[in-house]
Amino acid sequence: MPATANLGLEGVVAFETEIAEPDREGSALRYRGVDIEELGGTVPFEQVWGLVVNESLGRGLSLPGPACEPVTRSGDARADLQAALPTLAPRWGLKQLVDIDADQARDDLAKLSSATISIVAQALRGDETPVPTSEVEQGKTAAEQFMIRWHGELDETKAKALDVYWVSAAEHGMNASTFTARIAASTGADCAACIASAVGSLSGPLHGGAPARVLPMLDAVAELGDADRYVSDLLARGERIMGFGHRVYRAEDPRSRVLKRTATELGSPRVEAAEALERAAIAALKEKYPDRPLETNVEFWGAIVLEMAEIPAAVTPALFACARTAGWSAHIVEQKLTGRLIRPSAKYVGPPERPLAELG
Ligand code: COA
Repeated sequence: MPATANLGLEGVVAFETEIAEPDREGSALRYRGVDIEELGGTVPFEQVWGLVVNESLGRGLSLPGPACEPVTRSGDARADLQAALPTLAPRWGLKQLVDIDADQARDDLAKLSSATISIVAQALRGDETPVPTSEVEQGKTAAEQFMIRWHGELDETKAKALDVYWVSAAEHGMNASTFTARIAASTGADCAACIASAVGSLSGPLHGGAPARVLPMLDAVAELGDADRYVSDLLARGERIMGFGHRVYRAEDPRSRVLKRTATELGSPRVEAAEALERAAIAALKEKYPDRPLETNVEFWGAIVLEMAEIPAAVTPALFACARTAGWSAHIVEQKLTGRLIRPSAKYVGPPERPLAELG
């Protein structure tokens, strides 16, 4: 029997937002009206956080963030983050959203976002002695301080790559984790609980970045020495070319342009091979699907930029969470201002009314 509900909620407009929404046909992403192409590599993440949440570059994250420790050390930084965040509300005395004004919520969210960056860095550092704050402060940006907290030293190129990745992933409209954050916020929960709920929503492979499959593809092209043949063989086997196509964009994913520019500027040794594969993939996909634009998405150049920052693929969800604190925080405040509990309906399609005895 066909479903009578819209299972993926595609096309359902549940909110009005002043923050951002991807421009599907125009291949653009703007935070509060400012194109990410102007921001990436120019404005550091901590200020972009201010733009997304407070519409002000000057009201972003303060540096350095608090030196927060994870409360668990599971070996998975994303899981450790999700465990630590809710404990900050009682520890810091954060009140529930329903009992504070929007300005207080913005302050709480800024502290929690800085704490997120700090907890993830500490979780990645593992059992090594924490880096003293005086050394962390040597970093000029949130990304530099994150790298120092993690590795104990700074490589400016890697920190720059991470910064641009964070800027390009700061906000992306009504995605699954942002929706989750708004649902938690609509109940009047404290901001730590809202952010922690969102972190859980990006742990699945369908949201949160899965660049792990792009680099092996580039290695395979290098081995074969022929990008066109690699692509046509792959399509002939009925497989998908990783890093191409998008559920939302009907043109190039704008984040891909920002990340490609960064990979080129920072001198990634992969750029030439990646461009050859990109050309071959777009041409082959155009030929196979002339009516369906399938262009480069965020994962392709994102994988190359994250490789430059020496970020292992398994760590990407935790880093993505650091970036998306911006979008989540902005939406938590916007949701608070609506004052409306989110409570959709479901159509019941289970067994008809029956006596308990029927269950034997
Ligand atoms: N390589 C080869 N074929 C692709 C393709 C790709 N990267 N992306 C889409 N197609 C094909 C589909 O198989 C489908 O073909 P069919 O009609 O013969 O079944 C056709 O193009 C239309 O696909 P569409 O329905 O528009 O895609 P989608 O919205 O279901 O999927 C993605 C979007 C991102 C899941 C899909 O493009 C994909 O799998 N890309 C590769 C993985 C990837 O890069 N993921 C990261 C996303 S940010």
